[in-house]
Amino acid sequence: MTYPATLAKEIVRLDDPASGLDGFIVIHSTVRGVGAGGCRLRRYDDREALYLDAARLAEGMALKNALAELPFGGAKAVLNLPDEPFDRRALFRAFGRAVADLGGRYVTAEDVGTTMADMECVRTETRHVAGLRQLGDVAGGDPGPWTALGVFAAIEAAARVTLDRPLSALRVAVQGTGSVGAALCGLLADAGARLTIADADAARADAVAARHDARIVDGDAILTADVDILAPCALGGVLTGQGVPAIRAALICGAANNQLATPQVAAMLHGRGIVYVPDYAANAGGVISGTAEYLGESAAATQARIRDIGPRVAAILDAARRDGLPPVIIAEQWAATRYRRQAA
Ligand code: NAI
Repeated sequence: MTYPATLAKEIVRLDDPASGLDGFIVIHSTVRGVGAGGCRLRRYDDREALYLDAARLAEGMALKNALAELPFGGAKAVLNLPDEPFDRRALFRAFGRAVADLGGRYVTAEDVGTTMADMECVRTETRHVAGLRQLGDVAGGDPGPWTALGVFAAIEAAARVTLDRPLSALRVAVQGTGSVGAALCGLLADAGARLTIADADAARADAVAARHDARIVDGDAILTADVDILAPCALGGVLTGQGVPAIRAALICGAANNQLATPQVAAMLHGRGIVYVPDYAANAGGVISGTAEYLGESAAATQARIRDIGPRVAAILDAARRDGLPPVIIAEQWAATRYRRQAA
């Protein structure tokens, strides 16, 4: 097939049968700086699905990085998980060589399905990688906890603006208790929120439930749980047109990228009076940490920038309420303004 180049600035096909590397790097924009975005590893049905996920995620990174005022463009790598047993180190070294070939136009890091150990492996081939083990007062390391901190700041601010209640008086449903979701549950529980959780991996849900006295529900029931806030922290596309009428939460704010199955879902949620915090506004903590690591900044600088997510989300929601628009429209306008300012 021919890949629609208009959707992206640069598309790199990754195809190395010797290591099992099969995927794409998509650099959506370098207007604000080199493309930054993680590397996802999961099973895809076909090459088209692989490409479309990479393109959509790269576009999301461009918006996220611009909104967070980072001096980076948006990019993403998406790799197909091989069917057969494979040598993980060989695969990530091959990926590292592909990143090296881009000469610094793309900086990678962990995403769903990839780990710090994978990024250490990438590091043997290129320096354009973040999310590595860190020592001392430097930024970086596992991005999951940093993302959780930013999502927590977003939830706290959004609850104040839209529900006018502290987290200790609210019930929160968290879908996905992986790297981000588990850390988020810890922060929410510390703030006194009552938790309902779900994870496709029962052992993960059990561990979080035992730690934070959370209620577990099965599968998609989490999306319609009787709670005040829904935090999707598993995969994208979970908010669908068919699903919107059954949602009971008044506020949706989570870590998963591309939570809306289609752009129209934002208008449907708005129509029902449900406030949806744009995913890329809430979940920038990981990329803030990774880019700070890449630039050699301190952990204190990372924390300060992540704390800014709260006031930014509050400002987006205030503007959306003032203008009677879904918050995604405001966030897109603000990200576009930051692009134009940079391009001028
Ligand atoms: P992860 O892979 O550590 O955790 C995801 C969890 O969701 C796993 O425990 C998995 O079993 C569970 N899951 C998958 N499908 C599910 C379903 N249908 N119902 C319930 N649980 C399900 O991933 P991580 O790193 O926690 O990321 C979560 C989301 O946040 C992803 O969409 C990712 O793209 C996004 N994100 C992550 C960042 C990070 O720093 N790790 C940064 C920005 C976004």
